[in-house]
Amino acid sequence: MIRASDLPRPPMRMPLIGDLWRINPARPVQSEYEIAQKVGPLFQLDLAGGSVLIATDDLAINSIADEETWCKFVAGPFLVLREQLIGRGLLTAKNSDPLWADANEVLQPGFKQQAMRSYHHAMHDAVAELCTLWADRAGEQIDVSTDMNRLTSEVIARAGFGTTFNALSPTTKHGFSEQLSAALREASAAANSVPGLSNIRKLLLAQKAKPLQKTARKVAQLPTGATDSTLLARMCPASGATLPADNIVDQCLTFLIAGNETTAGTLGVCLHYLANDPRLQDAVRDELDAAGGLEALADYDTISKLRLTRRIVDEALRLWPVAPAYFRRARADTTIETRDFGTVQIPKNTVVMALTLGAHRDKVTWGPDADEFRPDRFTAANLRKYPDRVYRPFGIGPRSCIGRQFALHEAVLAIAAIAGTFNVSATSGSDLVMAEQITLKPKNLTVTVGAR
Ligand code: HEM
Repeated sequence: MIRASDLPRPPMRMPLIGDLWRINPARPVQSEYEIAQKVGPLFQLDLAGGSVLIATDDLAINSIADEETWCKFVAGPFLVLREQLIGRGLLTAKNSDPLWADANEVLQPGFKQQAMRSYHHAMHDAVAELCTLWADRAGEQIDVSTDMNRLTSEVIARAGFGTTFNALSPTTKHGFSEQLSAALREASAAANSVPGLSNIRKLLLAQKAKPLQKTARKVAQLPTGATDSTLLARMCPASGATLPADNIVDQCLTFLIAGNETTAGTLGVCLHYLANDPRLQDAVRDELDAAGGLEALADYDTISKLRLTRRIVDEALRLWPVAPAYFRRARADTTIETRDFGTVQIPKNTVVMALTLGAHRDKVTWGPDADEFRPDRFTAANLRKYPDRVYRPFGIGPRSCIGRQFALHEAVLAIAAIAGTFNVSATSGSDLVMAEQITLKPKNLTVTVGAR
């Protein structure tokens, strides 16, 4: 048995900043994945704030999933978000924070099937508006990330808060998505910069946070006595919830961040692969036609019939898990199993970053074609070929993604509607480059659309 401190490290640590010099603040998680490819599936990294273990190893990631000995840890960019932007919202609250338990109890029912049914209309209307917008721009280059953010922010505004940002109107200029992207880029860079620079970035972030918090305060003002089934109504006193007013604002901004960027990034990845593969587009259309065509998308139950479209979303989240890593902390002295070192002794409070981006491309568990986009990997029969795989795009345990079904439903609906309405052509090539702003997001991805 070896100790955690005996695990490999990359060579050449610098005084004070440790391994931080290796991390590109504009693409930190992708830098960490590049280091993992050289150093191995489990290693130590010294990131100025302390040492973390970075894992792409399936055995290690499965070991740290055990809730008795491990728990979520709010670190890196999430800590910056807690301090500067969303306080004690669900995503960034400490495990021990009673507000997390209260908010979780109030909001969980907002993601069950009955609630999902009630959001379908809002999602469908927003997707239809996107298609109208794109029909008017046929033949023009469309910036995919911008428009996917417009769509997902509109969906969360309508389904989550019963309001609209008019984000899909051709005339309204709603800067929320741009403001949000800029703030998240700053938070990601602040968490991965040398200490002095990090403080400057935090000051810049504090400025960028102000308009976002103003929008969240506006959104959080529900008419007194409102009793609809939005996420916001569930949090308000009229529903019996007891969340403090300032926490409701934090939760609204949390949903605007967590529910918007991630789904938008995933849709961008799906569109990249569809735009580069006309046969896959045809297959998506055939599937939609067999389920009743575009009109059938107005019906909630159609979405679960679109199995291929769902596999495209699943595979997009494997190859490019837009939330590319999550942190776990050891609650006590413990051990983990590993592929290369057998059992490893882990002291209490050790922090492990599960690098989903690496685990999802691990050739030992996913096979030699792990770097290829192959949606049929997700048929039940094919999945059996990867018994030891780690697939965790939505995290793990009680702090895993509350919005998982919301995101998957929205993504399948949007992809089916877009492919069912248009021929989508790639204009930015077959290589996908990802920007990082805590989440991953296609960079400079453009397509053109034409009539089907
Ligand atoms: C493809 C889309 C999405 C992905 C990949 C994703 C991924 C994740 C991951 C990995 C976590 C865990 C983070 C951690 O352990 O530190 C998380 C948490 C969370 N997500 Fe998502 N998410 C997505 C969409 C959404 C949507 C649509 C919503 C809301 C409408 C949402 C709301 C949240 C919230 C509130 C949390 C914190 C849960 C808690 O700690 O109680 N997410 N998400």
